Amino acid sequence: MTRRILRILARGALAAACFSTAAGALAQATKPRVVIVATGGTIAGAGASATHSATYQAAKVPVDKLIAGVPELSQVAEVRGEQAFQIASESFTNEQLVTLAKRVSALSKDPQVDGVVITHGTDTLEETSFFLNLVLKTDKPVVLVGSMRPGTSMSADGMLNLYNAVVVAGSTDARGKGTLVVMNDQIHSGRDVTKRINIQTSAFSSQWGPLGMVVEGRTYWFRAPAKPHTRQTEFDIDQLGSLPPVYVVYGTGSMTPELYTAAAKAGAKAIVHAGTGNGSVPGYAVDTLKALRAQGLQVVRSSRVGDGFVLRNSEQPDDKYDWVVAHDLNPQKAKILAALALTRSNDSKELQRMFWQY
Ligand code: DGL
Repeated sequence: MTRRILRILARGALAAACFSTAAGALAQATKPRVVIVATGGTIAGAGASATHSATYQAAKVPVDKLIAGVPELSQVAEVRGEQAFQIASESFTNEQLVTLAKRVSALSKDPQVDGVVITHGTDTLEETSFFLNLVLKTDKPVVLVGSMRPGTSMSADGMLNLYNAVVVAGSTDARGKGTLVVMNDQIHSGRDVTKRINIQTSAFSSQWGPLGMVVEGRTYWFRAPAKPHTRQTEFDIDQLGSLPPVYVVYGTGSMTPELYTAAAKAGAKAIVHAGTGNGSVPGYAVDTLKALRAQGLQVVRSSRVGDGFVLRNSEQPDDKYDWVVAHDLNPQKAKILAALALTRSNDSKELQRMFWQY
């Protein structure tokens, strides 16, 4: 009798073991495959001690160590890493931006990749996210993430930011929303987000609001992007070579028109004027900008004011001067769109159409 019972129990245990292995394999097979492309920044930074939350060296920790530092990633995705660059993001060049975009585009076409996370310095993260939002031709989630404190700091924010970014990149409900930025539990549009505070973990915000939140491994969506992005745009990174130089001149009281001629001498094909108020231009600088426009350089009026948008023909007769207004894009994003637009046309009316559209 006992031998028979033991035989039945053994079979039961074997069946249970087989089931859990199959379930495990199924779970493994159903986990999204996410590639983390690392570029540097504070999320890869290291400070001298746990109290150095703002004094540290960016771009020190390699991607494999970043991944090893968050073992919980394996619970939500099959993750692998690539080290694209190891730089502080203020040092990004147009060439590196294009190289990164081409790599992410290639990954997005790989059927073995369900989503991409890009770890990035926070200083120019919004420029990269806006650029990718315009040039990638994919519905797969591409999520940029950074941190405001290095991993060596007390209450470092990078680990949870990275975990949240991988959750979003592996989420089917994040598809088709354009490039996304995940910081501080929020999910932002890569177009709208900007770094507003340079020394808090709540550094990033969008004047039109975040798209959603990611909390304890789940995404919560509250709005969708209003502007065309990724597949919906006329820009394609796979057709793009290089970006023409565009420089920003910051508007203040008591400026000199020589700032604009210096930008032109440096090879600018467009100048973004980061004007006071509604993109205002000092009276003593108007003739210089009109002369540069007459030489073929494009003039784009943006504003140094964080929120709102620049209205055409408000502070300046843009129709008469043949200038462009940046709408709600801040100067650094206006620079990105102006450079991309110039790869398509040097007609100011076409540029203005793209600024209204994107
Ligand atoms: N040097 C800055 C950068 O790489 C550090 C800021 C950060 O990454 O948070 O953007």
